[in-house]
Amino acid sequence: MFRDLRHSYAIIDLKALENNINEIKRIAGKRKIISIIKDNAYGHGALKTIEIIDNFSDLYGVANIKEALRLRRYTDKPFLILGGFFPNEVKHFDNNLMPVVYDLESLNMLSKTEKPLNIHLEFDTGMGRTGFSFDEIYSIEKILKTSKKLKIKGVMAHLACAESDETYTKKQINRFYSIIEKLKKSGINFDDAHISNSAGMFYELDDVINAVRPGIMIYGSYPSSKYKKLINLKPVMTFKGQIIYIKSVEKNTPISYGCTFKTTKKSLIATVSAGYGDGYPRNLSNKGLVYIEGKGLAPVVGTVCMDMFMIDITNIPNVNRGDSVVLWGEGHEEVHPDRVAKRADTISYELFCHLSERVKKVYKR
Ligand SMILES: Cc1ncc(COP(=O)(O)O)c(C=O)c1O
Repeated sequence: MFRDLRHSYAIIDLKALENNINEIKRIAGKRKIISIIKDNAYGHGALKTIEIIDNFSDLYGVANIKEALRLRRYTDKPFLILGGFFPNEVKHFDNNLMPVVYDLESLNMLSKTEKPLNIHLEFDTGMGRTGFSFDEIYSIEKILKTSKKLKIKGVMAHLACAESDETYTKKQINRFYSIIEKLKKSGINFDDAHISNSAGMFYELDDVINAVRPGIMIYGSYPSSKYKKLINLKPVMTFKGQIIYIKSVEKNTPISYGCTFKTTKKSLIATVSAGYGDGYPRNLSNKGLVYIEGKGLAPVVGTVCMDMFMIDITNIPNVNRGDSVVLWGEGHEEVHPDRVAKRADTISYELFCHLSERVKKVYKR
């Protein structure tokens, strides 16, 4: 309904979402799926995302307690809080709202709990972000012995470069096996073990690792193009703008802030109704490529402004004011989010998460 009142909007294709989660299930096999829906499902809208993927998800992963509290009423599935917590948040935790614990101070604090609490322990096997070290297992064991109500529901680690460095990734996985073995020897039992993000799902893993944590593949992007042979994903988000102005200009006409582009011949220049204020990266100034639906691909010329940017349509016949322009998503392989991200020197995750509030999401089945 509001679509007509907006000059740019994002179509969220729920069929594509369904396709992707089915494909993920196929790869996951009998492993549990911890669907990562942090940052409002990577900018796609967490409520609708949960609606579609709930039957396939065993747990959800979010960044913090605030995200979990907002979303938990929409599903019966447990939440895993990946990004740590402060003491004043502990009162919110329960069996279905589990923090990931990665340091002794936090474990010590939680060990004094009076109510039953489920937690996951995170180990750093090479990510270099958060996580206990192997050598801390002894201290973990000591703390857990003092606690009656704390249950270790799961153990995890995170991969640093599963899509790009197999040797390093295998080392990380092997370190995780050693940790699991040591935990078991120390009498620390748990139900779930997980290390795989989307790219990590394509490594052979022992059965002891019984869960996976896909994120980006749910939303239809490939961690690397080499996985295209293995899984068929469809972009869920298509970000569109419209042509709001067309002008014919002479050779040597400067376009946009800083006059970073000058026409090299008489040209037809169109203005598109979105800018970095909507989430179209400024970094695509003089680098981007957009798809005018049904008509052709046009290069971005000049600097991307907050609410608009310009494209050269000299070589595309019959372009009109009001024409729909795909900035990324479905429509043409050149505007697949992974391609657009590459041109912008970033990753599709960042494109999705930076889509701004003022871009209306239109859900389509
Ligand atoms: C701890 C953790 N697990 C899983 C994921 C999902 O990763 P991906 O989106 O690459 O599948 C993330 C994403 O950043 C994460 O931080």
